[in-house]
Amino acid sequence: MDIVLYPDPRLRAKNTPVQDFGPELEVAARDMFQLMYQTQGVGLAAPQVGLNIRMMVFNPEGEAEATEAEAVLCNPRIVSKGKDKDFAEEGCLSFPEINGQVSRPIRVTVEAQNLQGQEIRLELEGWAARVFQHEFDHLEGVLFIDRMSPADRTLIKQALAELERDYLENA
Ligand code: CO
Repeated sequence: MDIVLYPDPRLRAKNTPVQDFGPELEVAARDMFQLMYQTQGVGLAAPQVGLNIRMMVFNPEGEAEATEAEAVLCNPRIVSKGKDKDFAEEGCLSFPEINGQVSRPIRVTVEAQNLQGQEIRLELEGWAARVFQHEFDHLEGVLFIDRMSPADRTLIKQALAELERDYLENA
């Protein structure tokens, strides 16, 4: 399993709902956590490893030891969003060495299924809410560069062009 880098079209492809809750899905989630910790990430969405399904893993603590903070969400839905937003710097494992400010609601309520297919509900706030929303965007084919201000986009223009060139060279 490898991380899919921008501008790979799998990052923009449609992600289908998870229907098979079984051992294969569990293995995929475990491998995604492993890859996420190896690359110092706090979240990873299935399309970022080339699986175009509606599944994500995250751990806002970013530490493999903090297992209590781990979440695997299948077919997540945002039930409600708070009105208050804030700006913070984000990165993305599909965009090495690129960071930018993104505005997002501070609170979200989420419904999803766990790895066993059971319905779960989460009330997320602050950093955890931000991490979730970043990964949720991936499931919608939306990337954090889409949410940056035009000024921030200008700052990363060169780096994006380099990723595009690398992609073409390795294609
Ligand atoms: Co990302």
